[in-house]
Formats: sequence, C-alpha cells, structure tokens
Amino acid sequence: MKPGFVIAVDGPAASGKGTIANRLGAAFGLPVLDTGLLYRAVGVALARGGGDLDDAEAAARVARGLDAGALEDPAFRTREAGEAASRVAAHAAVRAALLDLQRSFAARPGGAILDGRDIGTVICPDAPAKLFVTATPEVRAERRWRQLAGQGETVGLDDVLADIRVRDARDAGRDAAPLVRAADAVLLDTSELTIEQAADAARRIVEAARARRERS
Ligand code: DC
Repeated sequence: MKPGFVIAVDGPAASGKGTIANRLGAAFGLPVLDTGLLYRAVGVALARGGGDLDDAEAAARVARGLDAGALEDPAFRTREAGEAASRVAAHAAVRAALLDLQRSFAARPGGAILDGRDIGTVICPDAPAKLFVTATPEVRAERRWRQLAGQGETVGLDDVLADIRVRDARDAGRDAAPLVRAADAVLLDTSELTIEQAADAARRIVEAARARRERS
C-alpha cells in the first residue's frame, strides 16, 4: 500500500459507520479516529460545566481545550451525549477548533481511517477511499436502541427513532459542514446487511480504491 492511505467513512447516526471503520482498521492495519467522540466530548464537558450548548463561543473554548487523549469515557456514549454533540457540532467555531486535530490524525505517515459526517467533504476531501454508510431511520433506531439497552439505558424505541430523525435533520440542515455525501464517496446501504456483510462490502470498496491509487 502506498503511504498515507486515508479512508473517510461518513454517514448518519447509527448507520454502522463506526463498526465498519473499526473493521477496516483491523483489516488494513490503520488507526481509527471516531470523530463523533470529539463532538460528544465537547458537548459533555460544556454541559457538565453548566454551559449553554447553543453558545457557540463557550463551546468553541471547550473544543480548543479538548484533551483528545481522553475520549474513552463511557459518558460520551449516552443518548444525552449524542444530542449534546449534535448541538455543539452545528457551531462553525467548534468545527474550526477541531479541524487541525483531525487533519493531523489523517496525516499519519502510515495512513488513517476517520469516521464522522464531514470527513470526505471537509476534513479529508482528497482521501483516496470514501464511503458514505447509511441505513433507513427505522433500522438505525433499532440498532441504537439495542446499543443503549446494552449500556443499561432504558428508553423506548419510538423515542430513539424520534431522536434519530431530529439529529438527521440537524446534522444535514446546518450551515457548517452539513452531513452530505461527497460526490466521490461510494454509497453503502447497510439496512439489509449483517455486520459481516457490511464489513465485507466496505473492504471491497476500499480494495478497489487502493488498487486505483496504486495504478495512478
Ligand atoms: O457519530 P456520532 O453519533 O457519535 O456523532 C455525534 C454528533 O456529532 C452527530 O450528531 C453530529 C456530530 N458530528 C459532526 O458534526 N461531525 C463529525 N465529523 C462527527 C460527528
């Protein structure tokens, strides 16, 4: 593989992009950055400090001071953290504050995988491999509901579906780097796929991109 191979994996909440990114990381021996965790960490830190999630400047200050080495907190995986993340992610100043960190991760000499919403469009527009992972809102809600239940969060499936719809609308409707498929991203709809099938399909997409790059 040529050095510096970057794989951009974007898609809406609970589409399977995180699982796919991790499977690709294992298959290709590349480090993975779940960029949603950055926004989750900012949202949680701001809320914990009593800040207002709609205050762009306060959120940007938290983002500028973010410790990217401390993203493993289980509190970042909750439903509340997802909602907080989606709100702070709408601020252009927050996105700007997190840009260098993501670009430096992508610039690792051996290459990297980043998953998020704007990796293929804004963070790494030149990535040689781009996937846009999606699934129907109903399928995504069920997956997220199972995941939350596994973490001990009791919440109704209908509420999770409502959350997903609100987040889709906010993530896709915002002015700053909205969730949109890059023109050169390959669409992978995981609605009807098992994890294995989705991971295999993603691997094939990346293999094809890698072969194209080796030839170029
Ligand atoms: O992927 P996730 O559910 O952990 O993301 C949480 C929120 O963070 C999501 O609603 C939108 C935002 N986000 C973003 O705007 N850009 C990214 N690259 C990653 C996440």
